[in-house]
Amino acid sequence: MSEKDFISKPFSSTIENGSFQWSAPSNIALVKYWGKKENQIPANPSISFTLNNCKTITKLAFAKHIDKLSVTNNGFSFDLLFEGKPKEDFKPKIQKFFERIEIYCPFLKDYHFTIDTENTFPHSSGIASSASGMAALSMNIMSLEKALNPNMTEEYFYKKASFLARLGSGSACRSIKGSVVVWGNHAEINGSSDLFGVEFPSNIHPNFKNYQDTILLVDKGEKQVSSTVGHDLMHNHPFAEQRFAQAHHNLSAIKTVLVNGNLDSFIEIVESEALTLHAMMMTSLPYFILMKPNTLEIINKIWKFRNQTNIPICFTLDAGANVHVLYPENVREEVLQFIAAELVGYCQNGNYICDEIGTGAIKI
Ligand code: DP6
Repeated sequence: MSEKDFISKPFSSTIENGSFQWSAPSNIALVKYWGKKENQIPANPSISFTLNNCKTITKLAFAKHIDKLSVTNNGFSFDLLFEGKPKEDFKPKIQKFFERIEIYCPFLKDYHFTIDTENTFPHSSGIASSASGMAALSMNIMSLEKALNPNMTEEYFYKKASFLARLGSGSACRSIKGSVVVWGNHAEINGSSDLFGVEFPSNIHPNFKNYQDTILLVDKGEKQVSSTVGHDLMHNHPFAEQRFAQAHHNLSAIKTVLVNGNLDSFIEIVESEALTLHAMMMTSLPYFILMKPNTLEIINKIWKFRNQTNIPICFTLDAGANVHVLYPENVREEVLQFIAAELVGYCQNGNYICDEIGTGAIKI
């Protein structure tokens, strides 16, 4: 499919007003997206676990304009509420998103929207809400498009939702479906695309069923590097080409592992990816260190615990200091005890969030 396949078709219905509500989860990348081209095209393919508990819930209310001429802001008209209260600082991001998706959803200009959004995780937790937020909003927009075009297939509905979410925030396209999603062209993943996320096409080994992700909140501060600045660092990066090739290689390797259930190989790929992401930031110009001393303390404790117990836990990181601890469901009790006894002290105010692999966006 190409971009032009996502331009909305002539509508067979009309709708004056109404509302939809969707929740969409966050996701955690195993092979990381870091670096992009024009129009939100990733520099390399990535793969993630969709999460279950960390999510955004967004209600989209819409009313058709009687007089379109009075609409400013490039023709888009919307109010934004966060946890029920107006939130002006979120509006520019939504405005930009609407502008990016306008050619695919021209009907957006026919309505005034009230976007009412909230997260199940604390706003200042250092957990990015852009993936779950853009995914939830895209699902609502697709519900409206489906109301205008009821013949739309289920497959197209979800593909276009992921396509739109990508234009809001790259990783958001992996938050539409579960439980494992690939985004970006990859020779060995059938149907993979730079334009949207696809469900991992093979059966996943039972070792990964209900895989756990406990998110240790090391630093809840504002992001030191915005994702736009971060991805830009890969332009003219001395190791960029090798890194992009490595991501293709790691995706092949993890594809095999997700099917055969080899947890040692899983751990090696996932931890290497996390450290490579941070190595890219440390070796770009300007350079950044996004880990905190407690991030390293936690990593060392995880390695020690794994060596002593042979329990297959590992860590991954996003572009920040928080640590995602990944482990199979059958060692949950032991790992949670270990976290409570040895890792909580490294978390800001002792805070952490228990999550697990999930199934994607849900209509409410
Ligand atoms: C480190 O999806 O936040 O989490 O496309 O600019 O919105 P934009 O970037 P974003 O980048 C996420 C980067 C990452 C790795 C990943 O999730 O694959």
